[in-house]
Amino acid sequence: MTDDGSECWDESATAVTGCERCPALVESRSRMVNGVGPTDADLLFVGEAPGANEDEQGEPFVGRSGDVLDEGLRDVGLARQDVRITNCVRCRPPENRDPTTDERANCRGYLDREIAAVDPELVITLGKVPAELLLDRSVAVTSEAGDIDDLTVDESTWQVLLCVHPAATLYDPSQQDAFDAALQTAVEYAGDGGQSTFGEF
Ligand code: URA
Repeated sequence: MTDDGSECWDESATAVTGCERCPALVESRSRMVNGVGPTDADLLFVGEAPGANEDEQGEPFVGRSGDVLDEGLRDVGLARQDVRITNCVRCRPPENRDPTTDERANCRGYLDREIAAVDPELVITLGKVPAELLLDRSVAVTSEAGDIDDLTVDESTWQVLLCVHPAATLYDPSQQDAFDAALQTAVEYAGDGGQSTFGEF
């Protein structure tokens, strides 16, 4: 295995296969779950890790959190197919536990490479795990939701919008406004009301 895991990438540098860096995740996963959506998307959403539904279907955010995300996107005039959606970690952790620090670090190169390949107008972190991983600092997601910070990878800089995790709106409905507001900010940031810049996809 090379340092950047390059032998696990497909040619487009947007999908990884056969990675065996994390023994516990190799054990618990049915498959690796790569990002989906246009490889030239203006908006790139980054979640935490696949859950049971994602592991089964091989696609990020297809369970209840995915329903919340899809609905939020619809409310701002976007379809799921208009944006790219990926995770910090590409394999389902056992019992849906949080990915460990080592697992996040092992998968970080894949995420960085996906961000560079897609080169989005805006990266949107869904919840604490991706926000803290990408910004390399502690993040209070509820109070910082809607804030934009810089992410620098290999001398390139992207803007990161902090957003609460869609699941947070399910167990704490008071988070819904922050979630909706962040998506509205994302769509305005990326282009004219979210419609015109997405026509090419
Ligand atoms: N599904 C995902 O793909 N990621 C999450 O963070 C939660 C659910």
